[in-house]
Amino acid sequence: MGPEKMDSTENRSTIRDISLAPQGERKIDWVANHMPVLNALRAEFEKEQPFAGKRAVICLHLEAKTAYLARTIRAGGAEVAVAASNPLSTQDDVVAALVQRGIEAHAWHGATDAEYRRHIQQALDFEPDYIIDDGGDLVTTIHRERRELLTRVKGGAEETTTGILRLRAMDRDGELGFPMIAVNDAECKYLFDNRYGTGQSVWDGIMRTTNLVVAGKTVVVAGYGWCGKGVALRAKGLGARIIVCEVNAIKANEAWMDGFEVMPMLEAAQVGDVFITVTGNRDIIRAQHFEVMKSGAILCNAGHFDVEVNRVELAALASSQRVVRPNIEEFVFSDGRKVYLLAEGRLVNLAAGDGHPAEVMDMTFALQALSLRYLAEHGAELGQHVYRVPEEIDQTVANLRLSSLGLRIDALTPEQKAYLAAWHE
Ligand SMILES: NC(=O)c1ccc[n+]([C@@H]2O[C@H](COP(=O)([O-])OP(=O)(O)OC[C@H]3O[C@@H](n4cnc5c(N)ncnc54)[C@H](O)[C@@H]3O)[C@@H](O)[C@H]2O)c1
Repeated sequence: MGPEKMDSTENRSTIRDISLAPQGERKIDWVANHMPVLNALRAEFEKEQPFAGKRAVICLHLEAKTAYLARTIRAGGAEVAVAASNPLSTQDDVVAALVQRGIEAHAWHGATDAEYRRHIQQALDFEPDYIIDDGGDLVTTIHRERRELLTRVKGGAEETTTGILRLRAMDRDGELGFPMIAVNDAECKYLFDNRYGTGQSVWDGIMRTTNLVVAGKTVVVAGYGWCGKGVALRAKGLGARIIVCEVNAIKANEAWMDGFEVMPMLEAAQVGDVFITVTGNRDIIRAQHFEVMKSGAILCNAGHFDVEVNRVELAALASSQRVVRPNIEEFVFSDGRKVYLLAEGRLVNLAAGDGHPAEVMDMTFALQALSLRYLAEHGAELGQHVYRVPEEIDQTVANLRLSSLGLRIDALTPEQKAYLAAWHE
């Protein structure tokens, strides 16, 4: 069935097929059962209604965990609309389930660039008080094309490293029109989501897409930030030999001390079997690298934008290209070598998988929900800048997660507190 326009007032949505809702509902139920922190917040929000009378637009990967976040925000009294942060990570059944429960949605899987941008505009027509962004598409669109919303939007929260880089650049230039909270920079985010979430889900995406063995292969990880560390760590557990490519000497030392080979991409390109870019930068793998790769090399990206593997140069070098399995494109060079690109070079864990595990996103989305509540309560005191997630929110999420696991920890004694605070003993 083709994309259809829902007519009812409640559902002025642009989605693929509302009849997929029952399947989406089951997916959301499954993750909700594994998101105890968000469940606890949802119960609080239902009582306290922190977002009563407010509107929120959420632009995240539209899969089941995000859907449960959207419902949690709605349980707190907000009207909610969603758009996708990546056209390939949208799950049409989950979006249908959201619409059926009264959340406006503008997204479908495989949207073209023009459709994707139109969906964001349609979501912004909702005139949000608060936004949740992932990679900065909402913020950028508001500041470039929808400036009338600058007085309406009271603040927002940004999910990922790449989005925060952009926000800090806007803040530095005095261009940011409302406060944004940098959720990615909370400890309960990057230590778990970027590291363990990306670590597990990238391999899930690669393995389910290729159905090939990892053990014994040479895996090249470009970028040894929080995500890269997780991807390399899990590759080690799967029995791969790992090479790390970096531009930061400290991170390169860290990778070496973690037991990995370190070398420039031009050398790694000659020996790698599987390449994973996760830098947040562009052109990490480009023509000069494709030219020296072994036949059969598999390329994929886990960084936010699809610019890390230069697909334009890859296509230009190839004498032919075709899709050989869902989410696998084969590029054949004139000398007969073949390389394979997964998920068009978009986030492999989301475009060719279901994203991070539910328990990991439980912490991330708890940070999002609490950051939005913080904005509802304290937004008026903030300036038009990027803010860190308040320390108490990080601690709240960590404590809720521990108690959901049935874990207890020690507390400082008064003597220990005094000892740590003293300088003269
Ligand atoms: N796939 C996912 O689900 C997911 C989850 C979280 C973040 N992200 C995205 O992944 C990317 C990385 O995030 P992070 O939190 O690890 O960032 P980070 O800043 O911690 O790490 C990025 C690393 O890449 C390195 N780098 C930059 N340019 C490079 C180059 N040319 N060659 C080699 N290394 C280079 C940097 O030195 C840095 O160490 C971002 O785009 C982020 O938004 C993706």
